[in-house]
Amino acid sequence: MTKDFYVYMLSAKKNGTIYKGMTSDLLKRTCQHKNNIGSQFTKKYNVKNLVWYKQCGNWEDAVQWEKRLRRYSRQWKINLIEEENPQWNDLYADLLDYTDKPCNDGVKLREISQKLNSPLEARMFIKHITNLTDSDLIGMDTIPLTQEQRETLDDFIGQRLKGRPVSKIIGEKEFYGRVFHVTNDVLDPRPETEQIIDEAISFSKGKGAIRILDLGTGSGCILTTLLNEIPNATGVGGDISDAALKIAQQNAQALNVADRAEFIQSNWFESIEGSFDIIVTNPPYIETRTVEKLDKDVRDYDPMIALDGGKDGLTPYKVILPQIRNHLNPAGLFMCEHGTGQSPDIERLMENAGFEMIRVHHDLAGHDRCVSGLIPQK
Ligand SMILES: C[S@@+](CC[C@H](N)C(=O)[O-])C[C@H]1O[C@@H](n2cnc3c(N)ncnc32)[C@H](O)[C@@H]1O
Repeated sequence: MTKDFYVYMLSAKKNGTIYKGMTSDLLKRTCQHKNNIGSQFTKKYNVKNLVWYKQCGNWEDAVQWEKRLRRYSRQWKINLIEEENPQWNDLYADLLDYTDKPCNDGVKLREISQKLNSPLEARMFIKHITNLTDSDLIGMDTIPLTQEQRETLDDFIGQRLKGRPVSKIIGEKEFYGRVFHVTNDVLDPRPETEQIIDEAISFSKGKGAIRILDLGTGSGCILTTLLNEIPNATGVGGDISDAALKIAQQNAQALNVADRAEFIQSNWFESIEGSFDIIVTNPPYIETRTVEKLDKDVRDYDPMIALDGGKDGLTPYKVILPQIRNHLNPAGLFMCEHGTGQSPDIERLMENAGFEMIRVHHDLAGHDRCVSGLIPQK
């Protein structure tokens, strides 16, 4: 499904303020203004008019338009409104004609949940297709869908019933409160990896400019999150997979940190230059013989290169850790994710690499999941 992006202006009759916004689904926004925001916002400001909108074929165009609206004067905005939309007060009706109207009797969340045997997945599909939020859906018995949305929903349900994971169908997975684009070329970000984020954030507190290296960056979820959470940081994401790096770059762009991130194709450290204050990695760590026994959801849809950690699952750590002191600054932090039961081996590899303050971190299920350590200050 290709998405259009819209930039729009709303007028507040009471004080004449012009509000602007950017959205990927104008129908949803106008419904929100009418139904939700409308009830409080309209009462206060008497906002009921969508006075101007521009349909943009891509996000970049929409951002450019939004920037203009932010920078330019009120008179410029009024000229724009009058020039393009002389009958601006009638626009709401025009817009509903323009945006696809609901073309059927709508769908019931309960029925989709039954088909999928999962209320959560039904909600995720509906939210993705309509851009409605959880709070929008409260009390909504029937959800109106356009013909295109209906077809997309049927397609999604068909794919899910064949076993494709929801994240790969909708192309999105949430990590540390942000949405990442995912495809079959990258591992789905997992909640257990969020421990690396917490540790790196607390390490960076009170420090100046920080350089971060994320080895095996995949979707870029770790690096992009860290750059968002640590504003004084810059970083490099390395991966052997060119396809994964493209996704990582897109995510960094969408989450506004592309100017502080660099993505490099590299076999672990091979093409990485320079040194870093934090090195993080969630490498492939599953033993080769176990990979075949994984859930179909993981085995068939996450890339094998993101899963297979070699005969004992430790191959990446055995490559990375002996070289780490060439790239980690004194007093620098290293943290890696690993498979259950692998922490003693990784602790040993880290001791051999000269780490101090080595700590094992457990996931919510109580399994050992990450190890961190510091390189001594010189
Ligand atoms: C388990 S995934 C982790 C992805 C992401 N960092 C995350 O936490 O969701 C491992 C990543 O390591 C990459 N990888 C595998 N072998 C590699 C190698 N030799 N050098 C660099 N990256 C490699 C894979 O392409 C994959 O993106």
